[in-house]
Amino acid sequence: MGSGIAHVVALGGHDVVINDLAKERFDTAIQNIDKNLTRQVASGKITDEDREKALARITFGETYESLADADLVVEAATEDEAVKRKIFVAICPFLKPDAIVATNTSSISITRLAATTDRPERFIGMHFMNPVPVMELVEMIRGIATDDVTFTRAKDFVESLGKTTAVSEDFPAFMVNRILLPMINEAVYTLYEGVGSVDAIDTAMRLGAHHPMGPLQLADFIGLDTCLSIMQVLYEGLADSKYRPCPLLVKYVEAGWLGRKSKRGFYDYRGESPMPTR
Ligand SMILES: NC(=O)c1ccc[n+]([C@@H]2O[C@H](COP(=O)([O-])OP(=O)(O)OC[C@H]3O[C@@H](n4cnc5c(N)ncnc54)[C@H](O)[C@@H]3O)[C@@H](O)[C@H]2O)c1
Repeated sequence: MGSGIAHVVALGGHDVVINDLAKERFDTAIQNIDKNLTRQVASGKITDEDREKALARITFGETYESLADADLVVEAATEDEAVKRKIFVAICPFLKPDAIVATNTSSISITRLAATTDRPERFIGMHFMNPVPVMELVEMIRGIATDDVTFTRAKDFVESLGKTTAVSEDFPAFMVNRILLPMINEAVYTLYEGVGSVDAIDTAMRLGAHHPMGPLQLADFIGLDTCLSIMQVLYEGLADSKYRPCPLLVKYVEAGWLGRKSKRGFYDYRGESPMPTR
């Protein structure tokens, strides 16, 4: 998600610094960004000059000092509250006082994350969708302390990138994932209970409900660890058993079968074409 956000922000004419745990992560990100920009050139959406300029605007920031000039920081690390909290505590001392801090979290409370920073009034949820260069929507979520200036600046910025915003209250998983993830979780239960195979379930939803991707294919695309984290936030945050993560989803994550990113999930991606695993 971080590389997708860097892609659209750089294409929008802004300098971008990417920070990650290791330089190799940045190298992979740049390769992906280049591949996706090249695809946009081939389809006539942008010119080769746009591609080159966008790539030149993206640099690697090894330390948090590299964020010192940023007007906006978008956190897009692993969907784990402890990881995110640690990042916010660590970066804040390096940021300009008026810099806005945003999180791309799919589910975690914006108010709670904001409280770990030195600027809850300049903190906001900016939930880009996957894949960022293709998906039109960004959910905007205010924490209880987010001020009007921050909300307006953040919304104007996102819209200047050509995205459409939808405003959500700060409830677990906001709007899109509150609706989407229980459906994916139900698809995993359908598989777990033996109602249908991976292929049957995905075919059923593609052709029977006209979804562009089957729910299990989509789960692999999102990342099964991210899906599980979102279901846990829904289950704990809304205290309703209807959000209980499917034990089969838990088992896949425990096995390290996280979907596309680990080359194995409900499909096996190690061969020429994805093969259903059940
Ligand atoms: N996958 C999706 O479809 C999707 C869609 C919308 C939003 N999101 C949200 O975006 C965020 C990232 O999701 P993702 O799918 O890209 O996850 P991912 O697991 O693919 O990538 C997470 C990245 O964060 C990095 N990271 C972890 N700890 C870090 C730290 N302390 N400092 C710097 N970098 C660190 C990892 O090295 C990795 O590159 C999550 O909050 C997720 O909920 C995901």
